[in-house]
Amino acid sequence: MSEKQFRVKATPPFSAEMRVPGDKSISHRSVMLASLANGPCTIDGFLPSEDCLRTVEAMRALGVQIDETADTGRGLTRLVVHGRHGRLEAPAGPIDCGNSGTTMRLLSGLLAAQPFECELTGDESLSRRPMDRIAIPLRLMGAKIEGQGERCTAPLRIRGTADLKAIQYESPVASAQIKSAVLLAGLFAEGKTSVTEPSLSRDHTERMLQYLLVRTTRVENTVSIWGGQTIESRDLLVPGDISSAAFWIVAAAAMPGAHLLVRNVGLNPTRCGILKALLRMGARINEVIDEENGEPVGSIEVHGGKLRGVEIAGDEIPTVIDEIPVLAVAGALAEGVTAIRDARELRVKESDRISAVAESLRRMGVPVQEFADGMEITGVSQLKGATVRSLGDHRIAMAFAIAGLFAEGETIIEDTACVDTSYPGFETELRQLQK
Ligand code: S3P
Repeated sequence: MSEKQFRVKATPPFSAEMRVPGDKSISHRSVMLASLANGPCTIDGFLPSEDCLRTVEAMRALGVQIDETADTGRGLTRLVVHGRHGRLEAPAGPIDCGNSGTTMRLLSGLLAAQPFECELTGDESLSRRPMDRIAIPLRLMGAKIEGQGERCTAPLRIRGTADLKAIQYESPVASAQIKSAVLLAGLFAEGKTSVTEPSLSRDHTERMLQYLLVRTTRVENTVSIWGGQTIESRDLLVPGDISSAAFWIVAAAAMPGAHLLVRNVGLNPTRCGILKALLRMGARINEVIDEENGEPVGSIEVHGGKLRGVEIAGDEIPTVIDEIPVLAVAGALAEGVTAIRDARELRVKESDRISAVAESLRRMGVPVQEFADGMEITGVSQLKGATVRSLGDHRIAMAFAIAGLFAEGETIIEDTACVDTSYPGFETELRQLQK
């Protein structure tokens, strides 16, 4: 456990205009796909968080030259990646994916097609997370993957092959990480590889592949890719991360008198469930798409007010999956009951986010009923300051820092170093609001 903590007190209604750092999902993909391209790609707006830097280090270990050309004042946000035409090099030792599930799962898809053996390791939290979900389809394609126990947890040993078989895979869960791992392997398999999901997950991999002139198609929830295509080297621009913006959006939406403008944020519909859910809760939010460069990018404006409880469930869940902790905080501040269902996946994130959220909300005086696949939260007129544990999970730490802005007395969030996995600079922004 780290000794870092946040101490937060209630803040009066704020007015802020901000930009958030680059999108985490898109940053990972930009480095991986550029590494396979047929020449150099410049990536701008890259998120220099611990998770994304794991991907940079992993690709370097696999022989990719990645230059950091400029520190644009927000860390290393511009990279030049020298694509290796689809061929990577055997690493000298194990690759440490740290806390990053996206690094481990997407990389497994890439490694399935490389004819050498490689070991992937992770921290304690990542080593508890299920990897059978990617091992099963990648084995069907011909890769050899060994992990620990029934759920094939890390460390993983992957032995790829240049003779991957295309598959038609029906995924039991809506997961962009599973879909992407199979699509990345499919790029090297002979023929057409398809993945069908129970509902549509984020589609950044498909969009970026298209942008880099690799053909993919989608019919309802089935995405297909044809093997043997070349990734064209083109420059990439990473928009701001709506999952990071979500913390400030909830803070503003639930605070009568507050005003927020977030610029240059990704507005991909498969990620905008947070805005839809808040609108149903009665929030006053406008979004404007300014440009579309593979991904829609624009501004979000929020005027604070009183929220009401709603149900968040079904096909909507994959579009809000990372925002559920902070949406649960919105539910605690709303009038009536907010029900979150069909969200069993939350149990296998960086922490068990259903029990983590339920426990912390209760500490703050909020009645919560927990279910296997979600929770029901009864809004309260006043949150109580408390000491809450992040459990090493960045999104829990940040969600409860937002709760602290509304609570009576002081809220202490313990173990907050994990925030750097996705949002370095979060605390600075938090203090700015409290000025
Ligand atoms: C991610 C997909 C989501 C999300 C994670 C990032 C990605 O996970 O929770 O933070 O970049 O593909 P699943 O696709 O496994 O649900």
